[in-house]
Amino acid sequence: MKIVVLAGGYSPEREVSLSSGAMITNAFIKNGHEVYLLDSYLGVADGETVCFKSLKDGTDLSWEIGKKVPELDRLSEGRKGEGFIGNRVIEICSKADVVFLALHGGAGENGQIQAVFDAYGISYTGTSYEGCLKAMDKPMAKLLMKASGIPTPDWRLYTKGEPLEPFTFPCVVKPCGCGSSVGITMVDKEEQWEQALDSAFAYENRILAEVKIIGREFSVGILGERALPPIEIIPKAGFYDYENKYQAGMTEEICPARLTEKEEEAMGVMALKVHHALGLGHYSRVDFLMEEDGSLYCLEANTLPGMTPYSLLPQEAKAAGISYYELCEDIARHGKG
Ligand code: DAL
Ligand code: MG
Repeated sequence: MKIVVLAGGYSPEREVSLSSGAMITNAFIKNGHEVYLLDSYLGVADGETVCFKSLKDGTDLSWEIGKKVPELDRLSEGRKGEGFIGNRVIEICSKADVVFLALHGGAGENGQIQAVFDAYGISYTGTSYEGCLKAMDKPMAKLLMKASGIPTPDWRLYTKGEPLEPFTFPCVVKPCGCGSSVGITMVDKEEQWEQALDSAFAYENRILAEVKIIGREFSVGILGERALPPIEIIPKAGFYDYENKYQAGMTEEICPARLTEKEEEAMGVMALKVHHALGLGHYSRVDFLMEEDGSLYCLEANTLPGMTPYSLLPQEAKAAGISYYELCEDIARHGKG
């Protein structure tokens, strides 16, 4: 199989994506596939190394790409912040049997790139543009969940320039279309409201305030029509923010989670229901909070969940007896287009 792993891009999750992309690429190389790692924003030049910060201490994730892809010139078509995908990227992706999307956030996850690939008949992994669009826009996803009877914390949508009366407290303020907790603030009291709005509006003109649910945090991967074992996420301090997600030793992740059989089953059923309600593709990862009395709330579904060394989906797959490579291969084999 000839695979292009498309990563990087220009979203706030660029570095996470490069980490996912390098891991996926290495897994395919080790298993004898013809594979190219392509940064849709910067591209790569012959002899260069794809460089990015290690997301976890002590892990070198840089990957020498130049020798493997001599046909690549520098791709300088990427335009900051516009989700632009250049002709060279299309040209290279067209030659692949499948493009493995390792992009997170922005144009890579909100359906834009999927729509372009559909127009060019390029086969790609994951969810169609419609599903990506619905899942990546948090208010839209929450409306669809609500319409399907799936509990999700109450929320209000705020738009820049409109009156911004405070929501109830405690609440969580977040941009509508970001991942990896970028721009999110936990707001316990009204004095923190303005600052929280500024932090979220720094990323988008539409933001969300959501009732803060006090409880345990879980995530459930979907692969095919199967719910993987849930993982419990316990940050050592604060909430599961960007630092706690991608710095070594900051969060305890327990998989399979310590749940009763009944609780685990209920979470799996609800995760699949969310996956279907949003029209997602071969795989996704659905995030939950559970109150002390067992009430479950779905926060969101991720159409391109992280595939970094410490990401949740690979850990859930492992608990189900699926290796990292088997997970990648399964996703690639189910590419669409
Ligand atoms: N948005 C990050 C990559 C995740 O959901 O894993
Ligand atoms: Mg997310």
